[in-house]
Amino acid sequence: MNTTALVGAQWGDEGKGKIIDILAEKADYVVRATGGSNAGHTVVNGDKTYKLHLIPSGILYPGTVNIIGNGVVIDPKVVLEEMDSLVALGVSLDKLLIDLRAHVVLPYHKVFDELAEKAKGDNAIGTTKRGIGPCYADKCDRIGIRMIDLIDPDVFATKLRANLELKNKIITAVYGGKALDFDSMYKEYCGYAKRLAKYTVDTGVILYDAIKANKRVIFEGAQGTLLDLDSGTYPFVTSSHPITGGFCAGAGVGPTAIKECLGIAKSYTTRVGAGPFPTELDDEVGKHLLNVGHEFGTTTGRARRCGWLDAVILRLAVRINGLTSLAINKLDTLTGLKKLKIATHYVRNGEVVKDFPADISILEGCKPVYIELDGWDEDITACRTFDALPAAAKAYIRKIEELAGCRVSMIGVGADRDQNIYKPETK
Ligand code: GDP
Ligand code: IMO
Ligand code: MG
Repeated sequence: MNTTALVGAQWGDEGKGKIIDILAEKADYVVRATGGSNAGHTVVNGDKTYKLHLIPSGILYPGTVNIIGNGVVIDPKVVLEEMDSLVALGVSLDKLLIDLRAHVVLPYHKVFDELAEKAKGDNAIGTTKRGIGPCYADKCDRIGIRMIDLIDPDVFATKLRANLELKNKIITAVYGGKALDFDSMYKEYCGYAKRLAKYTVDTGVILYDAIKANKRVIFEGAQGTLLDLDSGTYPFVTSSHPITGGFCAGAGVGPTAIKECLGIAKSYTTRVGAGPFPTELDDEVGKHLLNVGHEFGTTTGRARRCGWLDAVILRLAVRINGLTSLAINKLDTLTGLKKLKIATHYVRNGEVVKDFPADISILEGCKPVYIELDGWDEDITACRTFDALPAAAKAYIRKIEELAGCRVSMIGVGADRDQNIYKPETK
């Protein structure tokens, strides 16, 4: 079996898009299985930068089949805009497939996202307002509209009418908002359906055959472990399961179909949106990470909150995802910092906390305890082997392996697809 599941090991934006693009060169299939257009994955190839939200990051290789699996929530307007912009850049969509069971994000999901955030006031989650939570809520409530419904005009009309009737009651009576119009929405979305229909298929069947035939399959994670609905910093999480376990339900494969589990982390930590963040820095180092790391959201443009690397988080990611190795991106962003810190554990009310707490009320009381390591000044962006890195950078990576309890197999030293180091197991 030749399959790898790739997940974010922190709060998202770890550079998953870059690593998937690198691995996709030799992949037959790349599969997205969770999340929706809340994701923003960046792929840099020379002077071209691609920002992908719903389309898998393997799309730049014409030989690779790119699947949007059943667990993804699809905003038809966003996916079509993305498809058009890729075509304009000369990218072929011949090998794009969309699962028939994937749920559809409709305008009322975005309205509800906006209204719910507003109603939460100071407790707002800081969502991307892409309608993700409300769409997954409808899926769980068993009233969602799926791709297979969208592409059948009669079924779509019946389901949209029933949904809109209910949603409009809530929008007007509960939130005091304006009702949405059925006719214009139906017409607009039938137009999208016509264009998307030819890509829709039962992708689980295709994947099953591909894995049996020993094809190279990469499962593309979106978001990150700490945004997982169960294992993350609930309620400041997304509404899906962006962990390796989520690939089974979201791509329609069994757990035995996944061989390697690669966790992607940055050499430090970032977070977009609200919620606790123990190693967050509000000082010159935080500014360095923000500015040198260009830490601005790919989807919303928001400045990302920045802080030191947190080994408590990495250990959670190793455990929850069954990681077989880690990729550490953006090592180059640390260049120039005299001293580097990694949180080894937390202390709460005088007691040592080694495992990530189950509840944010406990996490909020946790103070990180750091070890300090030497930094380096050398430009590492041209390094292509582990041996070529400065001694302090090598020591930093080895310390991550020790604290996380997982080997590091890849190291990012720049945004471009070739700015990557494969670290041998023995080094
Ligand atoms: P994703 O959501 O996990 O795919 O990550 P994003 O694309 O949202 O954010 C990661 C950012 O870091 C993007 O701008 C990438 O181009 C950039 N990036 C990825 N790896 C590296 C790296 O090793 N060094 C530097 N300097 N930038 C990187
Ligand atoms: P990628 O795939 C970083 C965050 C939002 C918010 C929370 C809930 O690029 O790593 P949602 O709109 O999902 O209901 O918002 O989750 N969030 C992300 N943060 N990277 C992402 O995706 C994210 N997708 C959602 O900022 O805090
Ligand atoms: Mg991102």
